[in-house]
Amino acid sequence: MEKTFIMLKPDAVQRGLVGQVIARFEAKGCKLVGMKLMSVDQALAEQHYAEHKGKSFFEPTVQYIMSSPVVAMVWEGKNVVALARELMGATNPANANPGSIRGSFGMDISRNVIHGSDSVASAEREIALYFRPEELCDYRKAGEEWLSE
Ligand code: PPS
Repeated sequence: MEKTFIMLKPDAVQRGLVGQVIARFEAKGCKLVGMKLMSVDQALAEQHYAEHKGKSFFEPTVQYIMSSPVVAMVWEGKNVVALARELMGATNPANANPGSIRGSFGMDISRNVIHGSDSVASAEREIALYFRPEELCDYRKAGEEWLSE
């Protein structure tokens, strides 16, 4: 089953949005297989955003995810990488569908509440950055038979 890496960024934790955002993934039918509250250090932040090194927003974005604890999570489900991107909405909350997470909870790209992997390859890379294999749980979730055939 496909997995994706989701991070509730410092603003989500500080603004008390953790429960509301997690509830959206649960309600959709995604399965939580890993989760931790953690601080991101400089080395990890730079690795996370390595593809953006040299862009104008690289340094502020690195500082932002280091500024306060984040909730790192791995969610599992059918096409969950694309599904999570839909739930999150556009990168810039100003352009995000009002029903999406960023559209509901954010106003500005510099504080956009949540990160989600943009491809299966990125998900594998990001999960490995934040989780050891033994930190992920392999289990059967009650009610899975009511989500798809
Ligand atoms: S881009 O513009 O296509 O390279 O953007 P993207 O691949 O979606 O991700 C860029 C990440 O940097 C954060 N960020 C910004 N992006 C674009 N412009 C500005 N000004 C900016 N400021 C911050 C953006 O939120 C993406 O991080 P994640 O963690 O994926 O949300």
